Amino acid sequence: MKAGTRHASTRNKNTMKSFFVTGGAGFIGSEFVRVLLKAYPEARVVNYDALTYAGSLANLADVDPERHTFVRGDIRDKAAVLAAMPEGVDAVFNFAAESHVDRSIASADDFVTTNVVGTQVLLDCAREKRAGRFVQISTDEVMGTLPESDDAFFTEDSPLAPNSPYAASKAAAEHFVRAARETFGLDTVITRCGNNYGYRQFPEKLIPLMISNALNDEPLPLYGDGLNVRDWIFVTDHCEAVLRVYEEGRPGEAYNIGARNPLKNIDVVESILDHLGKPHSLIKPVEDRLGHDRRYAIDPAKIETELGWKARIGWEEGLARTIEWYRSR
Ligand SMILES: NC(=O)c1ccc[n+]([C@@H]2O[C@H](COP(=O)([O-])OP(=O)(O)OC[C@H]3O[C@@H](n4cnc5c(N)ncnc54)[C@H](O)[C@@H]3O)[C@@H](O)[C@H]2O)c1
Repeated sequence: MKAGTRHASTRNKNTMKSFFVTGGAGFIGSEFVRVLLKAYPEARVVNYDALTYAGSLANLADVDPERHTFVRGDIRDKAAVLAAMPEGVDAVFNFAAESHVDRSIASADDFVTTNVVGTQVLLDCAREKRAGRFVQISTDEVMGTLPESDDAFFTEDSPLAPNSPYAASKAAAEHFVRAARETFGLDTVITRCGNNYGYRQFPEKLIPLMISNALNDEPLPLYGDGLNVRDWIFVTDHCEAVLRVYEEGRPGEAYNIGARNPLKNIDVVESILDHLGKPHSLIKPVEDRLGHDRRYAIDPAKIETELGWKARIGWEEGLARTIEWYRSR
């Protein structure tokens, strides 16, 4: 099937649609709920989230309660998912996950049960409820690391080669998504995005941690030599890309999402300090993370050419917006 022919009905955004979003009280999921409700003015969204340490209802404070129903629940609990998921739901968007690499190194238990078992539970429920499409939010980390010295990029043909327990759990989840399609014919798509930044991110991740510490004149702990490269994208751009994949992506396909913005960690941290007028002497090198992937860089050519999506928010603008958001809190 050609791009642009799938889900043609989604182009009529004023039809009454029903969506099931998991992890919608987290950093990216809560932004996605906003993007979804804006794009589909008549839609109803059930937001299903366990409210772990990473989720917060405060992230949804400004969301229209008329069209958004929050259900506190665990994706590993099949009975609870079935009770919350509407029959014939138009799409399931699975953002729920344990998402922090360092925590997965300390213990992989919840990563396996939530990210792998939880995804399989959702796939079973989506079939049972005859969901129109299942959108799995994955990560570039499933593809492991790229050589430091060359200009290699992750493409959709890059092999899955996860290096951290977090990445391994997300790669395993992708396999179950594929299996649900191949075995049962469930309509699935997978998105693989790079590192997100923006509002409402839990301050254990690099950018909000560094902003918070810099605002408080506390040391900024930087892993190893600071030369690890991550490909950064503003959270709203990621969410709009996920929506585009839902609307136009070919069944069974994976789409890499990136803003062509690979940066060394040290450059990210120095940019934050420069924005805030703080000295670089606040940077404090700390012992490197175990198995720290060296370089991620995404080639987003497939989603750009096939689905016509492109990131809109540049690094300088996105970083300024993010810093202002944390500063104003
Ligand atoms: N943050 C990134 O840079 C990034 C990049 C690419 C992909 N992703 C993926 O995007 C998704 C969202 O990431 P995020 O950064 O917003 O994560 P997050 O940690 O901020 O939010 C995760 C949400 O999932 C919920 N959750 C966790 N376990 C659950 C369970 N068992 N049942 C129900 N809800 C549960 C949490 O309460 C939280 O609201 C994840 O799947 C992650 O793998 C994240």
